[in-house]
Amino acid sequence: MTAATPSAQWSSRLGFILASAGSAIGLGAMWKFPYWAGENGGAAFIIPFILFTFTTGVVLVIAELALGRAGRGSVVEAMRRAGGRSFMWLGGLAVLTAFLILSYYAVVGGWCTAYLVEAATGQAVSADPEELKIHFGELVRSGGRNIAWLMVFLAAVCGTALCGVQRGIERLSKILMPGFFLLMVGLAASSLMLPGAWDGVEYLFKFSWEDVTPEVILNAMGFTFFSLSLGAGILVTYGAYVKKETPLPAASMWVGVLSVQAALLAGLVIMPAVFAYGLEPNAGPGLVFITLPLIFSQIPAGGLFAVLFYLCLLVAALTSAVSLLEVAVAFLVHEFGFSRRSAVLLYFAGLFILSCVSALSFGPWSGFRIFDRIIFDFLDYICTNFLMTLNGFAVAILMGWKAWPRMVNELSRPDEAGRTTSKTTLAAIGVGLKWLAPLMVLAACWEGVWGLLQSALAALF
Ligand code: PHE
Repeated sequence: MTAATPSAQWSSRLGFILASAGSAIGLGAMWKFPYWAGENGGAAFIIPFILFTFTTGVVLVIAELALGRAGRGSVVEAMRRAGGRSFMWLGGLAVLTAFLILSYYAVVGGWCTAYLVEAATGQAVSADPEELKIHFGELVRSGGRNIAWLMVFLAAVCGTALCGVQRGIERLSKILMPGFFLLMVGLAASSLMLPGAWDGVEYLFKFSWEDVTPEVILNAMGFTFFSLSLGAGILVTYGAYVKKETPLPAASMWVGVLSVQAALLAGLVIMPAVFAYGLEPNAGPGLVFITLPLIFSQIPAGGLFAVLFYLCLLVAALTSAVSLLEVAVAFLVHEFGFSRRSAVLLYFAGLFILSCVSALSFGPWSGFRIFDRIIFDFLDYICTNFLMTLNGFAVAILMGWKAWPRMVNELSRPDEAGRTTSKTTLAAIGVGLKWLAPLMVLAACWEGVWGLLQSALAALF
């Protein structure tokens, strides 16, 4: 159980914020948000999502970072130090959660890689929706191609992790995140200039009280949780690399701002274009792989835009995947004295096997179902609805109640200019962490329990 060495530390505050934002901004913002917001009533979903992000969401980000910085080890060590042996096991569960999420996240990462390469060679774009559907279906259902792309993606993730915290993750995020932002702003601007684009903006942001249902609110909570990368030990692990002088509330606020703007930006890239071309806005997961290539085939310089878009998608997926792997790597390095290299190689082998199972569940193994779901969907369901929420709940209880003095201590550290967190901010964080966050997490978890019950009943009758 070694303390964090100087090399396992962010070199700058900006690097740390960009790496955390890189983890938060991923397929959730780019792929799920646009169609999810549309399906859930537009502003009726977006407003609670923003509210949750800047209340309970950011408070939990602060708590995870504080837990990690006080622990100065892996998530297991941090939970043990703050809460004793019982919480140590919950830390172990976070490591498992991150590993499981990565195993299926990498499958979609593989598709992003495939589409980027195909866009670059002019194959991904077509004006024929049927052809695009078949093309996507073939990739997803094929055993071999799916696995080959998955391996390329995993190799990129592991390669970054091998380079370490500063030279790998921080450098990657520092170069890629600003580039990502500029590309997305450019894409949104050109999408908004299409004739009829305004209908897409309206679809995304329209507000009506009738749309504000408990289900929409619960969906917004769940999405906030996933989009901020909470509950999988990520910010606890990243927190251990944060310098003592970095003020956590301000940094966490930035992560919230960047994550919300990325989701809104992705919505503004996709929806105006979907409406301008009269396509289905609720095409679900196929939106970015089937609907968008159609649009690219019809706009000037569409081939170039396709390459830029899939590059953004891949960057988003890569920085999130790297954060997931880091949780598991830090665990083996700190708890069992592994070298970074052997930890990464071991995970590469394990992840590859598990990811293949997820990838095959779309094609050859699609008949094998658990609770009426293919393996990929089942893993996603269990991780997002149960494992992440359970861990989020544990962090809220631990840092809000059991180890509150530790939390206060972390937040009372003066920064380089000698400033500390004000009493009012501290009190607000206390209320958020002690009361709001556990309630929000339980509500999001309830949605999962309810869904599982429904599918169990559907399978029985
Ligand atoms: N926040 C990431 C996204 O939006 C997903 C993620 C969840 C990453 C949990 C790490 C941990 O895509």
